[in-house]
Amino acid sequence: MRITLSNDSLTDINADLLVVGVSQSTPSKDRVIKALNKAYGGGIDKLAAAEGFEGKASQTLKFPSAGTIKAKWVVLVGTKDLNAVDAARALGHAAAKASSRQTTAAIALGKANGEAVRGATESCILGTYRYDDYKTGDRKAKGGLKQAKLVIAKTATEHRNAVKAGSAIAEGVALARDLVNMPPNDLNPVSFADISKKEAAKLGIKATIWNKKKIQAAKMNLFLAVNAGSAIEPRLIHLHYAPKGAKKKIAFVGKGLTFDAGGLCIKPGKSMADMKCDMGGGATTLGIIVAAAKMKLPIEIHALIGSTENQLGAAAYRPGDVYTSHDGKKVEIINTDAEGRLVLADVLAWTRDNVKPDLIVDHATLTGACMVALGPRRAAMYSDYQEYADAYKKAADASGEKYWQLPLDKDLRPMLNSPIADLKHIGGSYGGSITAALFLQEFVGDTPWMHFDIAGPAYLDGAHKRSPKGGTGFGVATAVRFLEKLSAKK
Ligand code: BES
Ligand code: MN
Ligand code: ZN
Repeated sequence: MRITLSNDSLTDINADLLVVGVSQSTPSKDRVIKALNKAYGGGIDKLAAAEGFEGKASQTLKFPSAGTIKAKWVVLVGTKDLNAVDAARALGHAAAKASSRQTTAAIALGKANGEAVRGATESCILGTYRYDDYKTGDRKAKGGLKQAKLVIAKTATEHRNAVKAGSAIAEGVALARDLVNMPPNDLNPVSFADISKKEAAKLGIKATIWNKKKIQAAKMNLFLAVNAGSAIEPRLIHLHYAPKGAKKKIAFVGKGLTFDAGGLCIKPGKSMADMKCDMGGGATTLGIIVAAAKMKLPIEIHALIGSTENQLGAAAYRPGDVYTSHDGKKVEIINTDAEGRLVLADVLAWTRDNVKPDLIVDHATLTGACMVALGPRRAAMYSDYQEYADAYKKAADASGEKYWQLPLDKDLRPMLNSPIADLKHIGGSYGGSITAALFLQEFVGDTPWMHFDIAGPAYLDGAHKRSPKGGTGFGVATAVRFLEKLSAKK
């Protein structure tokens, strides 16, 4: 998708679709409708009223221009009660969704600032997102928007940078979505590593791919235990973006289970059906470093993705087994379906000791309990470093993603005590997302750390607002905003 800026007048602009916002509930009173009425010689206010178009947020009405203006179609988009940035996002998204045969759109943003231009860019690109790599012939979707002009009053550097940032983020999000949507017979730890390496190479990001031998040499026995039942080798994907002059170093860690059958504690069919999504944290981690590198953010970033399947082959790990973690803790296995925290534990400990970052941020589709607590579209945020948590919340508000901070409740820590080993990897039946976070915390030590349980929002069973069905790329947009602010700090 090509996004450009334009200062042309709306009636003269050459495009298949002219997309304009309407913020008044009485069509005849709206500025845009008045102007269109004039161009059409009347009737647009009546058409809007007859079609029940009241300017409500994200309501749309598409009609032909029939030669009254240069654009072929007009798309009205409700923006009532939306702030300028959300209105711009609604317009970008509507432009993408309103196109059938049309390939070019002009999106009227008026006196938009950089944030609005960024929002429109991001939502327009992502609105065209679809995953049809596994459809053939005529079943493959055709058409769709190829080009969008953002029509603004006056173009400044702020706007040009916003187009770049919005595009970079959208591309990072789309990459994460593609990987999550990819079937698990094709996206396995080996191919996930190959794809990551290719993406990194395009941007001058250094990639180090660890095979099973190297993971064994590093004594990541928890990670290896999860892999034991799988016919496919594990991979630890380590990407490193190191721009000149960076002052801070952030490590992102992702859960990369390309398929979670549950292991010997096998999942029932219904719960297993979508478990290709269990590498969603890893996909988000990759999307973040890719978007940040595209934006050339002046901050050092490590991305570490622990990737394996959780299967039930003859060598599979068992409940009752005890394994020694990379940093020497003996962990008793209770339920082989709580595998994500085991992979993360070893990767977190290694990152803490070898990368020595200022902050570790992990993303993981970690627990069903998180969805029980917060519903299917909100991530849980955990951190004892409140300044970082607050900065992240601000970033989330600006990106439009939903998070909720839950406590790393010290009182629950004894739930992880094991009668025979240093600790067990699950708590009891209550507070499952919290005890999972507490388990991870054991492996980060004193390094500032944030954990995001994205089990719900990483993958949706139906489209919602601007998020598509399937992989969403949740977390990329907020992380990038957080990094922008952090790198701008002295
Ligand atoms: N990958 C799942 C969590 C999950 C559930 C992600 C639904 C996305 C949607 C995780 O590995 C898991 O199976 N967790 C168990 C933990 C339990 C055995 C303590 C769970 O949540 O049931
Ligand atoms: Mn599991
Ligand atoms: Zn899992």
